[in-house]
Amino acid sequence: MDHFLYKSGALHAEDVPLAEIAATVGTPFYVYSTATLTRHFQLFDDALDGMPHLVCYAMKAASNQAILKTLADLGAGMDVVSGGEYARARAAGVPGDRIVFSGVGKTKEEIHTALSEGIRQFNVESEPEMAVISQVASSLGVVAPITIRINPDVDAKTHAKIATGKSENKFGIPIARAREVYAHAASLPGLKVVGIDVHIGSQLTDLMPFELAYNKVADLTEQLRADGHEISRLDLGGGLGIPYTRSNEAPPLPVDYGALIKRTVGHLGCEIEIEPGRLIAGNAGLLVSRVIYNKSGEGREFLILDAAMNDLLRPAMYDAYHDIVPVVEPEAGAEMSDVDIVGPVCESGDTFAKQRPMPPVFPGDLVAFRSAGAYGAVMASEYNTRALVPEVMVHGDQFAVIRARPTFDEIIKRDTLPEWL
Ligand code: LLP
Repeated sequence: MDHFLYKSGALHAEDVPLAEIAATVGTPFYVYSTATLTRHFQLFDDALDGMPHLVCYAMKAASNQAILKTLADLGAGMDVVSGGEYARARAAGVPGDRIVFSGVGKTKEEIHTALSEGIRQFNVESEPEMAVISQVASSLGVVAPITIRINPDVDAKTHAKIATGKSENKFGIPIARAREVYAHAASLPGLKVVGIDVHIGSQLTDLMPFELAYNKVADLTEQLRADGHEISRLDLGGGLGIPYTRSNEAPPLPVDYGALIKRTVGHLGCEIEIEPGRLIAGNAGLLVSRVIYNKSGEGREFLILDAAMNDLLRPAMYDAYHDIVPVVEPEAGAEMSDVDIVGPVCESGDTFAKQRPMPPVFPGDLVAFRSAGAYGAVMASEYNTRALVPEVMVHGDQFAVIRARPTFDEIIKRDTLPEWL
């Protein structure tokens, strides 16, 4: 459920007509609903009710300060994967003890900063990383709380580029080696093992892979405890999928996911952490764009928009489907025709949809890409020197620009000429 509905024939973000935002900030722009973000966070928080838990928002999905602050004020922790994300989380007021640090390539500098500010835990991905964390911790005179990410060799049944829990993926350590690696961790002076971490992939629309992975985590918890390790926390990752189409998809709900967690690991008495990103932000955001031209090709019609692959990369990168709807509600029974919806970038990959049935839309009309809140703005680039799309947040009948569109001058001034030119 989201808060982007047609009211009196016009698509709104909560109580604000999108056309009003377009008139103020220009197009294209991303817009987020506070109510949807809040609702989605709350669904996870409620789903884990009754167990000690922390919902650590995977901020890679959408990391604007306003989004982070909205979630942090609700009590969210953060899952970060870089020094930049860590700095953003701290800037949004999230204390170190609500931040988990994931990722296969944490640098010494990143580890140093996070440790000096009291990080909740590092989710360690390899033995070389473990050694570095221990060294940095010892040099600071502290002990680093860690979990070790295990790779359970489970097929997440999602797009290959976002599956992470198979043995051929770069993530985690093979579960078969877990006891040996935990023993090694326990022998390092700068580390304190606090738990186990697992994340098997993103956009999972079936609970079965989670169930397989979490059962393996439960068995491992018992084995590691028998080996003498104190396993008090389980970080179960993110990955729950969202519906990208209005009609035929019904992925499992957070409440079902919560019940699964209770069923598989609830008896262990551990504190539970989860790292959802997409389900919190995905359907809380739209990308709004204007039609530039209708163009007739050889046996096809093209709808050319002012948004392009650099603004929303998912269709080009993962063949992802996004609903694209006119901002003025189509009349009931409006005639649909198949169009290719494309952007202005000079590549054929700059195609959002092929042969998509659309009601009539014309130059100047606004269209909205649904489900664009996660992995939208954060993956944008300035390819073709197209300015990064601004971001807007809506709260009831108010809206605010939460990241302005840079001017061409600002973009150009970031370059510097070497002295010989
Ligand atoms: N935790 C870890 C360690 C992760 O690697 C990820 C996502 C998450 C949590 C959050 O997963 P979520 O709940 O959002 O599914 N750019 C791709 C998605 C990449 C996901 C990477 N890792 C896309 O646009 O589909």
